[in-house]
Amino acid sequence: MFKLVITILCLALIADAAFVRIPLNKPNKRRSVKNINALAAVLRHKYNPRKNVTSEELRNADNDAYYGAITIGTPPQHFQVLFDTGSSNLWIPGAPCAASDEACLTHNTYNASASSTYQLNNQSFAIQYGSGNLSGYLATDTVTISGLAVANQTFGVATAESNASFIAANFDGIFGMAFQQIAVDNVVPPFYNLYTQGLIDTPVFAFYLARNGTSSRGGELTLGGVDPKHYVGTLTYVDIFYESYWQIQVDSFSIDDTLVCLYCFAIVDTGTSLFGVPSDLYIGVQNAIGARSDTFGNYLVPCNYTSYLPVLYVNINGTSFNLTSDDYIVPVENDKGDIVCMSGFINSGGPVWVLGDVFIGKYYTVFDMEKDRIGFAPAAVNATVLN
Ligand SMILES: *[C@@H]1O[C@H](CO)[C@@H](O)[C@H](O)[C@H]1NC(C)=O
Ligand SMILES: *[C@@H]1O[C@H](CO)[C@@H](O)[C@H](O)[C@H]1NC(C)=O
Ligand SMILES: *[C@@H]1O[C@H](CO)[C@@H](O)[C@H](O)[C@H]1NC(C)=O
Ligand SMILES: *[C@@H]1O[C@H](CO)[C@@H](O)[C@H](O)[C@H]1NC(C)=O
Ligand SMILES: *[C@@H]1O[C@H](CO)[C@@H](O)[C@H](O)[C@H]1NC(C)=O
Ligand SMILES: *[C@@H]1O[C@H](CO)[C@@H](O)[C@H](O)[C@H]1NC(C)=O
Ligand SMILES: *[C@@H]1O[C@H](CO)[C@@H](O)[C@H](O)[C@H]1NC(C)=O
Ligand SMILES: *[C@@H]1O[C@H](CO)[C@@H](O)[C@H](O)[C@H]1NC(C)=O
Ligand SMILES: *[C@@H]1O[C@H](CO)[C@@H](O)[C@H](O)[C@H]1NC(C)=O
Ligand SMILES: *[C@@H]1O[C@H](CO)[C@@H](O)[C@H](O)[C@H]1NC(C)=O
Ligand SMILES: *[C@@H]1O[C@H](CO)[C@@H](O)[C@H](O)[C@H]1NC(C)=O
Repeated sequence: MFKLVITILCLALIADAAFVRIPLNKPNKRRSVKNINALAAVLRHKYNPRKNVTSEELRNADNDAYYGAITIGTPPQHFQVLFDTGSSNLWIPGAPCAASDEACLTHNTYNASASSTYQLNNQSFAIQYGSGNLSGYLATDTVTISGLAVANQTFGVATAESNASFIAANFDGIFGMAFQQIAVDNVVPPFYNLYTQGLIDTPVFAFYLARNGTSSRGGELTLGGVDPKHYVGTLTYVDIFYESYWQIQVDSFSIDDTLVCLYCFAIVDTGTSLFGVPSDLYIGVQNAIGARSDTFGNYLVPCNYTSYLPVLYVNINGTSFNLTSDDYIVPVENDKGDIVCMSGFINSGGPVWVLGDVFIGKYYTVFDMEKDRIGFAPAAVNATVLN
């Protein structure tokens, strides 16, 4: 297999492009409490892959997930994909769907024979995740994102999926935005090709996730740069450890003035809805916010207490970022249709913290592959910033 050894840093700029905005969508349905366990299982699996098993992220429709439109092939076939900084492959379901593959039947599928730019690859492709499996073959075709046509992009075409929680997902597939080092089959991620083919000037992308967004205006992903309209103040940058996940050192986590963790390892992941806490600290964090476990293992607080809850401080490279209960308490619907107040902290299943959408929604986040760093600044919160 061809292997891209050089990093994208070394490549010359080719075209005079660009800085591109992708509108993001977000389901406006409220998530259901019974889906949270499935979500947590996926997360635990994601950062603790067994040997020779590659993990991948999935979302179901009731969980917050930020996704947007791409097309594949000539003429274009349309898909909605979850933009996931916690994985590195693009995949979508393939036609024809097996009769038993309900997840395929309920989503858009890629028909290779209907595309004049399809190129046979024929290598097998398999991803395993917490709640099911996905397998198929690799294909190469033109992938267009926000009008930018990436030629010869290799991606996974799923032909078999076990019945997993993503049957009802609002997106068809996943668009991985982490580094090639963790890509299944070492496939070059689409963002690398956007840059190496000169479609964007700078290998930087940034997420604005509107916490109060709607399904049609859920936020914005910018490709090739940063949009200053989406944040206030200055960006605090922190270097990543090395190229794999987007992973950083957080100086400390504190709850009010109690230190929870000093010099801690965190992954910044748009594909995780909530906020992952290392296993050994998880119960302590739930206790610190007064959350109690229900019979499903979800941690809840009485909704009339949320204004008394402490503040979580996340200190990154000398700057203090905080989450208040408005940010880390998530209203969910229980079996009776009542709204209950769930803790947004979930067990990451390992030693890592996961700064998911609960954090990225409050802090505009810049992923910089040129300088191998991540930047954060308070997100601008008003409706006008989505224009
Ligand atoms: C992983 O797979 C490779 C290639 O199939 C094999 O050589 C290696 O022994 C496997 N490693 C483990 C830990 O199973
Ligand atoms: C998936 O579920 C459907 C019905 O919900 C069932 O008919 C089908 O056999 C299941 N497929 C697999 C692979 O389990
Ligand atoms: C795929 O496209 C080909 C060529 O247009 C068409 O003949 C075939 O029916 C399509 N297959 C499916 C499953 O849609
Ligand atoms: C694709 O791979 C399969 C399994 O390795 C092989 O049987 C088949 O001949 C290959 N097809 C082509 C067109 O190379
Ligand atoms: C894509 O692949 C085709 C055929 O291999 C080649 O002619 C073309 O130059 C490639 N385009 C890019 C942008 O790599
Ligand atoms: C998923 O993969 C596991 C481990 O490889 C296997 O045991 C299981 O049967 C697979 N399930 C499906 C539905 O393919
Ligand atoms: C979101 O909407 C709720 C209720 O409408 C409001 O209380 C909250 O302040 C809003 N949050 C943001 C960040 O705009
Ligand atoms: C902290 O930020 C400064 C200024 O941007 C940078 O030079 C330094 O490398 C950063 N430190 C870490 C640990 O990322
Ligand atoms: C919250 O509601 C419970 C039950 O409805 C009530 O007993 C309690 O006093 C309330 N607490 C506050 C702080 O309002
Ligand atoms: C949390 O951070 C915001 C934005 O930086 C700031 O305005 C606010 O005062 C901070 N709140 C606390 C309790 O530190
Ligand atoms: C919305 O936020 C932007 C960026 O912070 C600011 O320039 C603008 O004045 C705000 N608009 C309103 C109506 O608050």
